[in-house]
Amino acid sequence: MTSQIIPVDPFDFIIFGGTGDLSERKLLPSLYHRQRDHQFSEPTRIIGTSRSKMSDEEFQAFAKQAISDHVKPADIDAKELKTFLARLSYVSADATTGAGFDKLKKAIGESDRIRAFYLAVAPALFGDISHQLKTHNLITPNSRIVLEKPIGRDLASARALNDAVGDDFDESQIFRIDHYLGKETVQNLMALRFANALYQPLWNSAHIDHVQITVAETVGLEDRVTYYDKAGALRDMVQNHMLQLLCLVAMETPSSMDADAVRDEKLKVLRALKRINGNEAPKHTVRGQYRAGASAGGAVKGYVEELGKDSTTETFVAIRAEIGNWRWAGVPFYLRTGKRLASRVSEIVIEFKPIPFSIFDESAGPIFANQLVIRLQPDEGVKQFIMIKDPGPGGMRLRQIPLDMSFATSFDGRAPDAYERLIMDVVRGNQTLFMRRDEVEAAWKWIDPIQNAWESTRQEAQGYTAGTWGPSASIALIERDGRTWHESN
Ligand code: BG6
Repeated sequence: MTSQIIPVDPFDFIIFGGTGDLSERKLLPSLYHRQRDHQFSEPTRIIGTSRSKMSDEEFQAFAKQAISDHVKPADIDAKELKTFLARLSYVSADATTGAGFDKLKKAIGESDRIRAFYLAVAPALFGDISHQLKTHNLITPNSRIVLEKPIGRDLASARALNDAVGDDFDESQIFRIDHYLGKETVQNLMALRFANALYQPLWNSAHIDHVQITVAETVGLEDRVTYYDKAGALRDMVQNHMLQLLCLVAMETPSSMDADAVRDEKLKVLRALKRINGNEAPKHTVRGQYRAGASAGGAVKGYVEELGKDSTTETFVAIRAEIGNWRWAGVPFYLRTGKRLASRVSEIVIEFKPIPFSIFDESAGPIFANQLVIRLQPDEGVKQFIMIKDPGPGGMRLRQIPLDMSFATSFDGRAPDAYERLIMDVVRGNQTLFMRRDEVEAAWKWIDPIQNAWESTRQEAQGYTAGTWGPSASIALIERDGRTWHESN
C-alpha cells in the first residue's frame, strides 16, 4: 500500500525485554521497516535492555538475525540495515533490584528528545520497571510508556497494574497496545463507516439483523505454554481484540479522530454490553478445546498433549453478545475465536435485514439478505454482497454477487505490519489507536462475570477436532436464532 511517509522527530526507543520473542518477531523488524522507508530523523536510537548480559555488538547481531528471519529478503537493503544496526545499543538491567538503571540513564543521557519505554515483558514487571524509571529520574515530559497485553487477568489485577504505572506516568503518556487496532483493515472500518454516507443511515437495529465477528487461527499453543494455559481464549483474544472490533463496529460517530473522542465512544459501547451471568452463560457462551486432528495437511496433537498435562483451559470461545442501547437493541453480535480452526481468517460480517416484500416470482430463486463482509486478514478487503439479475434472456433469475474491493488488487506495495503503525504513533504521541485505562477496565467488567460463571457452573470446554470450525455447540449457538455462521475460507 503506497502512502506518504512523514518523518517523525528523533527519538530514543528503549525496549525492555529487548531479546525476547516480541522484540525479535515484531519490534525490531517493524523498526527496521520504518528505517528503510526513511521515517527516522537523526539522531534516533534504539536501546535494548533485559537481565541478560550482552554487548552492543551481540545485541546488533541478535537484531540482524531477527530481521533476516522475519523480514522478506527482498525488503532487506544492506545499506539501510547497516544504518539501522548502528542505532542499536544494549544495557543490562534488572527492574526487581534496580541494578543497571544508572547505566541505562547514562546511555540515554540528558536530553528532552522523545523517549519511548516499550515494556515487552511479563506484566508482573510493569510496576517495577515504571517505579525504577521514576526513581532514576528517567521520566521526562516527553516520555511515553508502552504496555503490551495482557493488562491483567481480571478487573482487580488490571486495576492494580494501571495504578502501579499510573503512579509514575500520566495517562497521556501511557500507551496500551492492542495490535489489532494497528491493522490496516481495522482502521479501514472507521473509514468505511465514517467517510461514506452510504452505510450510516442503515447502521442500526432497524436495518441490521445481526453482526458476526470471527477471528480464527490455525496455529496451536506455539511456545506459550505457561502464559496461554493460565489465560485461555476469553482472556487472550476476547477481552482485547474481539471487543475492540466490536466497539469499532458499534460505536457512535466520534466528533473527530482525536484520541479521546474515539475512546469515549468505544467506552460507551463497552459499558452498554449486557452482562452475561451464571444462568445465561451456558446459553450465550461456548467453550472449546482442540483435540488431535489435522492442520495444513498434517496431523497435529490435541491441546492437552501439546501442553503435556491435563487442562480445562479453553482454546475456543463463541459468545452471543448484546448491546443495550437504542442503536443496537435486539441485534445479536456473535463472536467466535479459536486456535487450530479450519482456516486462518478474521472477518466482520454485517448482515442486513431481508427485504420486506418480494415482487419476484418463486422462479426467480431465493433473495438473500445483503451482507457486508470486512475481511481483516488474510486477503484483506471488503465485499458487499448484493442481489442482481442473472444475465441472459431466460426470464428473471436472481443471484447474489459480491462487490469486491480487495486490497491486494487495489493497492500496490507492501502492507505494513500493525506494529509499524503503532510504534510511529507512540513516537508521535497519538493515542487514538491505544486503549485508555477506563476502556481496559470496562472490558474486564464484562469478561469477569463470564469467567466467573464458567468457574462456578463448571462449564466445560467441549472438545473439537483440530482443523474444524470448533465445537458443534458453537453452530447451535447461532442456529438456535435461525442464523448461520458466514462461510469463511
Ligand atoms: C495475540 C494473542 O494477542 O494475538 C495470540 O495473544 C494470537 O494468541 C495473536 O495468536 C493473533 O494475532 P494476529 O495478528 O496473528 O491475528
